[in-house]
Amino acid sequence: MKNILNAQWIKSFKTTTDREVVFSRKFNIQKEIVSASLEVTALGVYLARINGERVGDFILAPGWTSYKNRLQVDTYDVTSMLKDKNTIALGVAPGWKAFSYFGRHSGDSCLGFNEVAALCALTIEYANGETEIITSGGDWNCENGKYVYSHLYNGYIYDPAYKDITPAKAQVFAKDKKILLDRQGEKVVEHERLSPVEIIKTPKGETVLDFGQNMTGYVEFKIKGEKGERAVISHTEVLDAEGNFYTDNLRSAKAQAVFICDGKEHIHKPDYNFFGFRYIRLENWSDEIKKENFTAIVVHSDMKRTGYFECSDERVNKLFSNIIWGQKSNFLDVPTDCPQRDERLGWTGDAQVFIKTASYNYDVERFFTKWLADLRADQTDWGTVPHVIPGVFSPDNDCSAAWADAATICPWQIYQTYANKQILEDSLDSMKNYLEHIESRSDNGIWSRSWHFGDWLNLDGSSPEDCSKGTEKNLIATAYYIYSSAIYAKSLELCGKDASEVWAKREKSIDAFRREYMKDGRILPEYSTQTASVLALHFGITDNAAETAKQLNELVTECGHLKTGFVGTPYLLHALTDNGYAETAYSLLLREEYPSWLFSVKMGATTVWEHWDSMREDGTMWSTSMNSFNHYAYGSVADWLYGDAAGIKLDESKPGFEHIIFAPVTDERLTYVKASIETRKGLVKSEWKTENGKTAYEFTVPEGTTATVVLNGEATEIGAGVFKF
Ligand code: BGC
Repeated sequence: MKNILNAQWIKSFKTTTDREVVFSRKFNIQKEIVSASLEVTALGVYLARINGERVGDFILAPGWTSYKNRLQVDTYDVTSMLKDKNTIALGVAPGWKAFSYFGRHSGDSCLGFNEVAALCALTIEYANGETEIITSGGDWNCENGKYVYSHLYNGYIYDPAYKDITPAKAQVFAKDKKILLDRQGEKVVEHERLSPVEIIKTPKGETVLDFGQNMTGYVEFKIKGEKGERAVISHTEVLDAEGNFYTDNLRSAKAQAVFICDGKEHIHKPDYNFFGFRYIRLENWSDEIKKENFTAIVVHSDMKRTGYFECSDERVNKLFSNIIWGQKSNFLDVPTDCPQRDERLGWTGDAQVFIKTASYNYDVERFFTKWLADLRADQTDWGTVPHVIPGVFSPDNDCSAAWADAATICPWQIYQTYANKQILEDSLDSMKNYLEHIESRSDNGIWSRSWHFGDWLNLDGSSPEDCSKGTEKNLIATAYYIYSSAIYAKSLELCGKDASEVWAKREKSIDAFRREYMKDGRILPEYSTQTASVLALHFGITDNAAETAKQLNELVTECGHLKTGFVGTPYLLHALTDNGYAETAYSLLLREEYPSWLFSVKMGATTVWEHWDSMREDGTMWSTSMNSFNHYAYGSVADWLYGDAAGIKLDESKPGFEHIIFAPVTDERLTYVKASIETRKGLVKSEWKTENGKTAYEFTVPEGTTATVVLNGEATEIGAGVFKF
């Protein structure tokens, strides 16, 4: 960032509600150019063009941050785009800013609710040594653009024939530039292009195209409709029990692309929108509907794929594929809960349960480093962590266990997977403030005076009316305090600081937990749920793991299935496997009746569902109120697939896979498993195969690292290379 600091913020003189505004300026070049770079940002989402050509490939730039505190600036090399006569144009639409709480209420810091603005500097270096800087300012033109309506949830209306009849000069306004920073996250870019697999005439007589894969992105289409005709594309994830286009679960989000035809042929795709969909419905389409005129373009953050898993059960492979698609669909600049309904928010709980899986599947270091900086920026002065980051709700005077714990769990995982100690150093104050808030809401070590989301969507008592009912919330909260305290204490020590006080407070809470909720290693009957036992085991709270695990195994085998929600599910298979009940863990993984991971696979899912029964066996739906077919939270089971089924484990004391532990857990229902993770140290691989009752193993250890292989309780140390056992 350099010359943009001397540019002026510009906005429109007109009231701009939910639409695109285009700022532009013409300029000539008479001398030989050596280089030209464009620094640009916007309040809203921008698309920059020079001489009609798009600058860069970042979709919905400059991304979504805590706009009140942090706004990213992109820098592009535009040397080859300049000619003798030039026009630079910046289209800006509201994007995420329109539903940002801070944008809505904080006046000067982010303008009004739907107002958009731009800031840019074009620096041209000439061969004669001179430099020219063209900055945004009052000499720029400003007009309404062809996106006559633009809204992230509802979609857009594009009118190619629209021309603003009252263009004017841009209005300069003052705004502190302290919030500007060089882009920190990954760009969001286009990825796969999918063709329709089927054109369907539904029982209602509607025309629906099926792309065969639930995804996030948009449709590129060819159209030549009659002048003035409003062609409408609606997006959705599933068809209902009768096979009709089903949009009730989108709630208020209209999720439509409207194209106003002008009699000419166009190939069009949106510039400021994304949708979560597998199916589209076409209305007012006078053109012949041909598959080749439609392409679904997948859009997500530009993360490098690092993790792969495969086994002898095709259903599990499909589940793994659904998990990957869940991540692609919801890692669009921030980790979101879902990409389709009127939400698409950075829910902290969802992010923390999935981050371990996410960091094996893809390289998400940069992605989370940015998001965690937003978390710290939006954390309140009194330590609470907003439920969603960037914050869009009014700052609360309290926060929920397992959601707010993203403040400790996410930095810790980024440290573990990538050996990034800086993220711990940057997060120490945030962790401290969060834990102190909990302490102010606790009585004798029990976090007892807050409202919580609980074991969200569990099967012990949650219902569409109250999804948080089930496992005792203070039990969950205290368990998370104990877990987060350990992370904070270890982080302090790694940063060379004393943590004895933190460890002491944690001990006090452990004692309180055991006194309040346990007896002889068992969770007391009135508190006993699968999730309660899972937390006592996985967070190291129980003083009798054998007994707690026995209880957990009983709870699972008695009913034959899992009952856990967002809190218990990520650790359920770990808690069983780590304590001698791997067979039960495998039974849960391989079960395909409801409730289970494979139920959605059996029902034809191509992404992970929000509920164990988002759609029931007969095609009816859980509820319209909150029913996403693309929620990654339960996809967190993939960290068990990597870590236990394939047996690739991080060694906490040597993060970043500097030392690997291979401890695969086999099961006779699978004949082979293979997984690999492209770590910062190189490719780590584990494979096993069972033939005639004998299992053969192969492990790949990258140069410069070491590993311990644990098979049948016996440990063997190995160095770099490929080893067979
Ligand atoms: C979201 C969740 C989120 C939850 C809070 C929902 O509406 O979709 O995934 O964590 O609210 O409990």
